[in-house]
Amino acid sequence: MSRQILVTSALPYANGKIHLGHLVEYIQTDIWVRFQKMRDHQCFYVCADDTHGTPIMLKAQNENITPEELIAKVHQEHSRDFADFYIGFDNFYITHSPETEQIVNEIYQKLVAENYIETRQIEQFYDPQHQMFLPDRFIKGECPRCGAADQYGDNCEKCGAAYTPTELKNPYSAISGVKPELKTSEHYFFKLSDKRCESFLRKYISAENGVLQTEAAHKMQEWLNSLSDWDITRDAPYFGFQIPNSKDKFFYVWLDAPIGYFGSFKNFCDKNKNKIPNLNFDDWIKADSTTEMYHFIGKDILYFHALFWTAELNAVNLRTPTKIFAHGFLTVDGKKMSKSRGTFITAESYIQTGLNPEWLRYYFASKLNSTFEDIDLNLNDFIFKVNADLIGKYINIASRCAGFIHKKFDGKLAKINQNLPAIKTLQNAADNIAALYELREFSKAVREIMALADVANQYVDSVKPWELAKNSEQNQINSDLHVVCSNALELFKILTIYLKPILPKVAENTAEFLNISEIFGDFSWKNVADILPEQHKINAYKHLMQRIDEKLVSKLIDANKATIAKENKTENKTENKTENKTEKIESNFCDINDFQKIDIRIAKIVNAEIVKESNKLLKLTLDLGEKNLRTVFSGIKSAYPEPEKLVGKLTPMISNLKPRKMKFGISEGMVLAASSENDNEGIFLLSPDSGAKIGMKVS
Ligand code: 2FM
Ligand code: ZN
Repeated sequence: MSRQILVTSALPYANGKIHLGHLVEYIQTDIWVRFQKMRDHQCFYVCADDTHGTPIMLKAQNENITPEELIAKVHQEHSRDFADFYIGFDNFYITHSPETEQIVNEIYQKLVAENYIETRQIEQFYDPQHQMFLPDRFIKGECPRCGAADQYGDNCEKCGAAYTPTELKNPYSAISGVKPELKTSEHYFFKLSDKRCESFLRKYISAENGVLQTEAAHKMQEWLNSLSDWDITRDAPYFGFQIPNSKDKFFYVWLDAPIGYFGSFKNFCDKNKNKIPNLNFDDWIKADSTTEMYHFIGKDILYFHALFWTAELNAVNLRTPTKIFAHGFLTVDGKKMSKSRGTFITAESYIQTGLNPEWLRYYFASKLNSTFEDIDLNLNDFIFKVNADLIGKYINIASRCAGFIHKKFDGKLAKINQNLPAIKTLQNAADNIAALYELREFSKAVREIMALADVANQYVDSVKPWELAKNSEQNQINSDLHVVCSNALELFKILTIYLKPILPKVAENTAEFLNISEIFGDFSWKNVADILPEQHKINAYKHLMQRIDEKLVSKLIDANKATIAKENKTENKTENKTENKTEKIESNFCDINDFQKIDIRIAKIVNAEIVKESNKLLKLTLDLGEKNLRTVFSGIKSAYPEPEKLVGKLTPMISNLKPRKMKFGISEGMVLAASSENDNEGIFLLSPDSGAKIGMKVS
């Protein structure tokens, strides 16, 4: 029976580029959707740019454009990236749309009518310079638990404590740097703690109900125990949908984002109502809908989907998700993606460097399963697996046999031996492979398919078409060669069908080369059993996929390192802009690892003399307790006209600064001094408190 399935991937924010971390999810979803379509189900895959919220508003301000202009620009870039990786959305829309706004308002009105909304006065930080309330992530200060400096308003990255922004010590605005003020504001809350929500959620997200993966269900049940009401309000200025009958109040982006799934689908239904029979949006979202709905998401946004979104849908009597599929994060060579290491790889750079998107689709598929374990892109393994499996095992079958059919048999197939054990083995695997796709056990499916490719290669190796070809007389019809090559192409056809959800472009090109449109229309799952007919004319074989050259992968990493260097330069140019300093402030922070790279030691000044040829420099000789003394040229001459007075003093010095060749000699470190920005209030060499000794580490 044909199913009706609506599938979504999480909506990407409209202020950032698509990177390989995002692509794990889109590729995972796309493979699943393509599989469902090949099974002849009615399956629609929708998504949208997530366009609301403070970061998007500030980024647009920073670029001196309207949020709508920013969204249009990013939407175009995202659409290009998704198309490049063959992510086959049926609709890729934006949340800032009339459809989404209408559904948001309808849902909100129902929540009000059903007494799920409550207003409360809340105290919130306000940036008096920027004249706006500050979201939690835009307030920083010292952690109330461990005292770590520069922690966000919601949780401490050092000790993991969770808190409210008002608990931070010495808070400051991450936008302007000023001390924020506390102001009251009336906010609307969705009453998640209402008994009706809780009793629904307990059952709905239980492990037995199977909507969530078991591990996710357990986690969500834990969170249910501390469910509090959800603040769905943001004060102006904010880029979002205005809350009906309110002044200067907007819906929080996370309220409208999942509704954006429906907004995108509604837009799709409206556009296609004349093309697709019986496509009625309301039928898909009503509480008793017979259709299925699946959300693919990252494990970090589980609670927005499993708790808030489903509780909200249930409260307004709409359908709830059939299943929510969470996946893990991507690491590259075992580490978190990093801009400085060049492993924060954007989709755009991957394509521009000349890498084939299907290589990545295959590699991700070979790693993905139904859990939310993180997956690792090991760059050497990536090169190895693609070359060994895709080229060495799969493509190889066609490239070794297709040419003969074209050259020697006028492109026409012989009668294929349908009882050939290899053909039977491949055909018989169809149900098992389909079950693995259905369960999102893609890595197992890939393993199975590659084992079948081995079977196909063993067949080709055993019949050796290249030797049959050598033995044949000029112009003599070599029926053995004709049959074995036709058999091999049948095996290749079956493997192509199995791989089609993962390699849609190769499958399309194979369909063209095998001239499939004449017989099957397009490859669908059931064509596994349909043997290519005798005398069927195929087209000339063109190479379907190249090997990965490892130089390309190094080039990709270098390209991403270069991008970050370029971004840093641009940031410096905009340094004086008053608007949206957030990103700049963020990038100016050094983390503890950066700091730990600097080795500061207590040194004793054993000699200090003026460098006559220089207006600024003193030549210091320093004792760090090492075998040799160090020379440091320091620009403190104006502050110490009688340098001999410095002799005998202790001072902190950076001892691992790369030695620098100067006009007057090599400087082997740097002493630390305080000064105002233009030095006009003096320069003051730092000195440690009494008790510090030569060679002690400063930390
Ligand atoms: O975490 C994110 O990137 C969000 N933009 C995902 C939203 S998914 C859905 F709820 F809209
Ligand atoms: Zn802390």
